[in-house]
Amino acid sequence: MKAIEIRNKYLDFFERHGHKVIPSASLVPENDPSVLFTTAGMQPLVPYLLGAKHPEGTRLTDYQKCLRTNDIEEVGDNRHLTYFEMLGNWSLGDYFKKESIAMSFEFLTKELNIPVDKISVTCFAGDEDCPRDEETANYWKEQGIPEDHIYYYGKDDNWWIAGEEGPCGPDTEMFYDTGKEPCGPNCEPSCDCGKYVEIWNNVFMEYLKKDGKYTKLSQRNVDTGMGLERITFLLQGKETPYDTELFTPIMDKLKDLAKNDNIESRRIVAEHLRASMMIAVDGVRPSNIDRGYILRRLIRRMTRHLNKLQIDLKELDGLIDLDIDTLKDMYPELAQNKETIKEVILTEKDKFMKTLMRGEKEFNKVMQKIKSENLDIIDSNSVFKLYETYGFPPEVTKDLATENGLKVNMDEVNELFKKHQEKSKQGSDKKFKGGLAGNSSKEIQYHTATHLLNAALKIVINKDVHQKGSNITDERMRFDFTCDHKLTDDEKKQAEDLVNKWISQGLEVKCEKMNKNDAIKSGAECMFIEKYPDEVTVYTIGDVSKEICGGPHVKNTSELGHFKIVKEEASSAGVRRIKAILE
Ligand code: SER
Repeated sequence: MKAIEIRNKYLDFFERHGHKVIPSASLVPENDPSVLFTTAGMQPLVPYLLGAKHPEGTRLTDYQKCLRTNDIEEVGDNRHLTYFEMLGNWSLGDYFKKESIAMSFEFLTKELNIPVDKISVTCFAGDEDCPRDEETANYWKEQGIPEDHIYYYGKDDNWWIAGEEGPCGPDTEMFYDTGKEPCGPNCEPSCDCGKYVEIWNNVFMEYLKKDGKYTKLSQRNVDTGMGLERITFLLQGKETPYDTELFTPIMDKLKDLAKNDNIESRRIVAEHLRASMMIAVDGVRPSNIDRGYILRRLIRRMTRHLNKLQIDLKELDGLIDLDIDTLKDMYPELAQNKETIKEVILTEKDKFMKTLMRGEKEFNKVMQKIKSENLDIIDSNSVFKLYETYGFPPEVTKDLATENGLKVNMDEVNELFKKHQEKSKQGSDKKFKGGLAGNSSKEIQYHTATHLLNAALKIVINKDVHQKGSNITDERMRFDFTCDHKLTDDEKKQAEDLVNKWISQGLEVKCEKMNKNDAIKSGAECMFIEKYPDEVTVYTIGDVSKEICGGPHVKNTSELGHFKIVKEEASSAGVRRIKAILE
């Protein structure tokens, strides 16, 4: 059975059992600042699991686009995926354990035709928060699952919660026996040897975890999730998702194109390309923070591995066509937005190639030095310097090092990055404290003008313009920003006019302390989110600008005088520099 057939069977089955089919929510969570991406089918439904009325009723089913980013570095093995699709059905205070188990059993054995003896199930073993779930085990027995195919595990395995807090409960998981030899006398579903693979998880969500305590929800819910890629390859008798029709066209094409084939790199390219397209089609654009940074990392890692396979990067265009063609029946939005997807991915690839070319030269110098000293490890300071000076990501340094028989101590590198962030945080705190005392009133005016210029450029050029740096003296301001072209006279004039308009409007400059995540959620602009402490200061100017910033600023834009751009020039690749004065 193909993936799309399994999806359709699933939705039809639950529709026949009284469920309303609802559309997949976006990968970008709408009302949940605690996560970057939708990671499970239940996420968009949290308000309803907590008791709000869903307009479609109490029985729902859908396929949900999901992205999990914890394991990006693991992708390339035979099982990890960042993007996947989760099939799910929900009872919002409607049916509970008995019916849920009966439907799951029927679907697995009658619709997917899985023989009963290939199914094992697990139930919650019980602890001080919640009793042992013998009720669930009994329902499985009633359905015909033999006693010796039922296992009990504790919270680590049979309890489900998204993150730290929220609706949760004991779950029962269904495992598929691949028929492989057991790894030993104690081989059971909880072991990792690959004989048993989890295919479905029904959560009996009747608790709420808050401040470390469990209380009962106002209603008893069921939340189930089945990973589509996984069930597909298992039913097809394949070893990995890459062996199914979702990936074989691109995997084969990559093999044709590769002059230096290796299966890991092909999987990374195939997986990251699909994930990047799905993220891009939901409106995310590459950047240095949050979702944009994940997209950037995926595209960059994919590009690295295309290089490793020695595939000409010009082929990427055609690979996108091919992949969209493969996936268009499942995700028509890909075909509808093909041009945008291409533009996002190909532009980022080009940017990365520029960084790579600059960085690789430096990397080679570092490597020569290390080899000439007969060492086999790149010291962490050099890894850091490659990043700081050449924008060369540590993952790439590590990859290159490995290819050249050298090591990198990533733990130490991560430590170093953390320390540096600490330092720059202290630095900016200090700067803030020194604040008003250390800055002349002219500098403070320029500082506010910087925010206005930033906002104006976003309107005049495009919303993806981001600040890359600034430097302020008593005499002038200098502002660096991402932009791929020399500004036209018209663009400069428009930016100038906007800033002056806002100055003449006398907009109030407001300063608030906020939690970092709330600040981001509220749309506040920032340069590199990692550098900021958990509590940040946000400056809002009328409704034209909102930025995380240490300050200080003027109280009202009317204090600024007349703004004039005196120079516009290139700063570095993809970055322009404006010098401006207040008269
Ligand atoms: N929320 C559970 C999971 O993600 C079941 O849908 O596995």
